[in-house]
Amino acid sequence: MSYPYQITSLDQYKKVYQESIQNPEAFWSSIAEHFTWRKKWNNVLNWNFATPNVEWFAGAKLNITENCLDRHLEKNGDTPAIIWEPNNPNEKPRMLTYKKLYERVCQFAQVLKNNGVQKGDRVCIYMGMIPELAIAVLACARIGAIHSVVFGGFSAQSIADRLEDAKATFIITCDGAFRGAKDIPLKSVIDDALIGNTTVVRVIVYTRTRTPISMIKDRDVWWEDEMKHVEEHGIYSIEAEEMDAEDPLFILYTSGSTGKPKGVVHACAGYMVYTNYTFVNVFQYKPGQIHFCTADIGWITGHSYIVYGPLSAGATSLMFEGIPTYPDAGRFWDIVDKHKVNILYTAPTAIRSLMSFGLEPLQNKDLSSLEILGTVGEPINEEAWHWYDEHIGKKKCPIVDTWWQTETGGILISNLAGITPSKPSWATLPMPGVQMTLVDDKGNEVTTLEEGVYKGNLCISFPWPSILRTTYGDHERCRTNYFATYPNLYFTGDGALKDENGFFRITGRVDDVLNVSGHRIGTAEVENAINMHAGVVESAVVGYPHDIKGQGIYAFVIVSNTHGDDELTRKDILQTVTRVIGAIAKPDKIQFVSGLPKTRSGKIMRRILRKIAEGETENLGDTTTLLDPNIVDEIKNGKL
Ligand code: WTA
Repeated sequence: MSYPYQITSLDQYKKVYQESIQNPEAFWSSIAEHFTWRKKWNNVLNWNFATPNVEWFAGAKLNITENCLDRHLEKNGDTPAIIWEPNNPNEKPRMLTYKKLYERVCQFAQVLKNNGVQKGDRVCIYMGMIPELAIAVLACARIGAIHSVVFGGFSAQSIADRLEDAKATFIITCDGAFRGAKDIPLKSVIDDALIGNTTVVRVIVYTRTRTPISMIKDRDVWWEDEMKHVEEHGIYSIEAEEMDAEDPLFILYTSGSTGKPKGVVHACAGYMVYTNYTFVNVFQYKPGQIHFCTADIGWITGHSYIVYGPLSAGATSLMFEGIPTYPDAGRFWDIVDKHKVNILYTAPTAIRSLMSFGLEPLQNKDLSSLEILGTVGEPINEEAWHWYDEHIGKKKCPIVDTWWQTETGGILISNLAGITPSKPSWATLPMPGVQMTLVDDKGNEVTTLEEGVYKGNLCISFPWPSILRTTYGDHERCRTNYFATYPNLYFTGDGALKDENGFFRITGRVDDVLNVSGHRIGTAEVENAINMHAGVVESAVVGYPHDIKGQGIYAFVIVSNTHGDDELTRKDILQTVTRVIGAIAKPDKIQFVSGLPKTRSGKIMRRILRKIAEGETENLGDTTTLLDPNIVDEIKNGKL
């Protein structure tokens, strides 16, 4: 398979970009021609950002799995689709060819059907990074069930909230997951999440860790038993469900500035076309290459660039169960060496963390197979960029800095590897079809240069195929969150700079969302969790620069009755946050305070707290409007 729509020069990029914005419909339909459709579209695009309503390829019929699997079978059936590297380097890797993956997906799709899953049902998937996770995702898509993958680090409470919001009726999980030296008891977390749940009728459990678990009668079944049953009936293939272009493909929950995560909904056709297009162009994928995206499928990066993008392109996708530092900080480099990885796509936080171990873990690791490097999830600092370039890419691999979001489905701003220029810590140019704009706080386009750059809030003025369609069960929330801040624009929540060449540099969130180790966490969410602790009166959470994580979580907390032992109270609060959200949301610092800087109307002045957390002591701005200006000194003096 080759890709006629792969851009191969800077001039061609410029030409294609112009065409794509002059006539987006002609452009995207010419790309969509290269996919398998049961029926072609009536309309390429209908849109209105005010409602918001966006439809791509309306009237078309398809199934994304026919594009990810069936269409590769004849010529590339024996090509590896998934290579899997286990957490423990002594365990054998696994490989599934397209033929094998197709067979497994069909069989598991039949299992889902046998268990009563129907088109449109919401299926929650809570598994570790094993091939069965990809199989479960694709099997849902095959029968038109809407998958909602929940990252294995979320707590029972978080899962319960998501199950309830999505009204999920089925769960697919594992007994446990291996992650580094830890053994995560997934099934037992699910059991806790299901206490009081009234919608889930079945839990399918895959055996991975042999952790003892309880199987509840009439509710829980084993993956292996169910698959055996299907095999006994000689089922190796099932017909894919015919889906409308705009039918939901999946829900993925993500944090926003309010306390409750939003269920971002993506639609079948647009998501398929866009993830494939960006995979092929950003990474300049050549058939036969091995693509290693280190994300977890529990995040959007895993959905788009481990599963759907690569597989729809007939690529070989490497999936890794473990973590970069287990059994030692050379693990990524071992994997690159062992599997002759050609494309490595990871997060700046992973690079910074591995950098901190020095060059020793790189000794005797052959990285010569690497051709292209990528980063995602947060701004990359120049130091990490240069380390990646020099020590991993040996200065011969282009680095793509890809900016995008759960809501955008695929990469929106990035250089194209080796084709368009790169600039350390700049995501650079928008993808074809993507119309970015910078606006000031009033929503006016920024047109004056400040020290050689335009500076503003990053917005998008025209839809691209994989834009979110709604937030599950609450369309109004989608409108107010993304489309109401500035009329007729999609607002990303990020701030950015643009230089004279039109290159973008993302400076970070301008809303109350933190980016901790590349994970999005809402400050309100963390505050809600902290406030659940019995001894806490009130709290305020802000981010601060953290060498490895990018941002750390700093919590200012007012407590009433403590044990009189600050350390113990801190531990209790951390435990509460772990219970309510998950360990990823644990504050790095907890400072006990007697009050918070509030305006007379009772609003917390986060700006001041942010400055204090960042270590600023002098220029805290105007504090005269505060109810009690003295509190600022107390907080400053007690800074951790
Ligand atoms: C941030 C991850 C700078 C940004 C795909 C965005 C980035 C949020 C970059 C989305 C990048 C992502 N440079 N910042 N290359 N990529 N971000 O939804 O703040 O988990 O809004 O999607 O991550 O995070 P999400």
